[in-house]
Amino acid sequence: MITKQKGTYDIYGDLAKKRAYVNDVLAALCEKYNYGYIETPVFEASELFHRGVGESTDMVKKETYDFQDRGERSITLRPEGTAGVVRWFVENKLYGNMTDPVKVFYNMKMYRYERPQSGRNREFTQWGFECFGSDDVMSDAEVVSLAYNAYRLLGLDDITIKINSLGDTESRDNYRAALKEYFAPHIKDLCPDCQDRFERNPLRILDCKFDAGNEIITNAPKTLDYLNAESKERFDKLLSMLDMMDINYEIDTNLVRGLDYYNHMVFEVVLNDSYALGGGGRYNGLVETLGGPSVPGVGFAMGYDRTILAMEENGVNIPINDSIDVYVLYVSDTEKETASYLVQDLRLNGFITETDTMNKSLKAQFKSVDRYNSKYMIILNDEDLKSNKIKIKDNKTKEEELIGINDLVDYLDMHM
Ligand code: HAM
Repeated sequence: MITKQKGTYDIYGDLAKKRAYVNDVLAALCEKYNYGYIETPVFEASELFHRGVGESTDMVKKETYDFQDRGERSITLRPEGTAGVVRWFVENKLYGNMTDPVKVFYNMKMYRYERPQSGRNREFTQWGFECFGSDDVMSDAEVVSLAYNAYRLLGLDDITIKINSLGDTESRDNYRAALKEYFAPHIKDLCPDCQDRFERNPLRILDCKFDAGNEIITNAPKTLDYLNAESKERFDKLLSMLDMMDINYEIDTNLVRGLDYYNHMVFEVVLNDSYALGGGGRYNGLVETLGGPSVPGVGFAMGYDRTILAMEENGVNIPINDSIDVYVLYVSDTEKETASYLVQDLRLNGFITETDTMNKSLKAQFKSVDRYNSKYMIILNDEDLKSNKIKIKDNKTKEEELIGINDLVDYLDMHM
């Protein structure tokens, strides 16, 4: 037997129905914000993700699925959505005539070689969105609001937005220097990963999962103290806009996010202080890093699988349809022929319809009706069919009626 790969899972049954519901809610919300749907390829040139996300990040150093294809190209499976969307934006020169921002959303599988645990997989889905062309805090606020409203619409009312600002390049460089100076005498007391991060990207020490809570980290210099006046003013404006929009946020000065491309606002969505249900921020340099002109960008990605898990764990009632409309039962060959015609007609008229395709006895067909939780059943009978009649039974009220075969669709339309 061949089993599924570690960190992957099959999507079927109720989970598939729950995901369909969540998709519908999110797509409808994105429409309200005037975002268009995009899908980018599952695999791209390795350089895109390595350069885009940052060679020194944990993701690129430890987690990307990199391989050579048969043409000896270096290929990487998509570990996140932003870099691919930026590649699309640059490749199609969408920066050419930017009278309005370019806004897109996606719902895509991602691949990261991580240690699987609850809510962390090697194949997982992100629902995310990106907005190009505006550097105004109004677009930061729009992105936070879209993320916030998505969780609330899904019934996760208690989420908190953790938010921070890394400032512009100057502020970030000053901060990085301050962190290096601060951590230098303590670095031997931190985990081996942090010792490595000290050289590569000291900001990342702040969100180390292993050393979380360590006093050395809690007492480290705070980004907000290193923002220059312009960056500080920008962040204050954003926060007052979020207040205006009634968005529940918490400033988290240790929030730096794991990817290299961020500047100014970064934010994460958490519930009960557990792992992040999503994260995002502004990335004004990324379009340029990936070969385009200087165009600002901002976006967010929801950990889709984690969010559904959180909905289940928090008792959110996810509406799924676990019943069918009609089951058609038959015994003789002529009844079977009529059944084949009837199910076709009912399905084309929008009713979820089942019939027997396994030569079951009538008794076994009745059991199927119960298993499928069918609202109605139609019991075909040659005698009734002679006068173009069929027997229909409402499974809830147990009421039975003999009706004209040509009246069936109208009958169901009236009764359902
Ligand atoms: P990220 O924080 O790496 O950001 O991922 C976003 C979310 O994806 C995380 O908060 C988490 O919920 C989910 N996630 C990440 N890794 C896994 C995993 N192994 N299993 C399950 N869920 C996972 C990004 O990817 C950025 N591209 C977000 C962004 C969009 N920034 C700007 N625009």
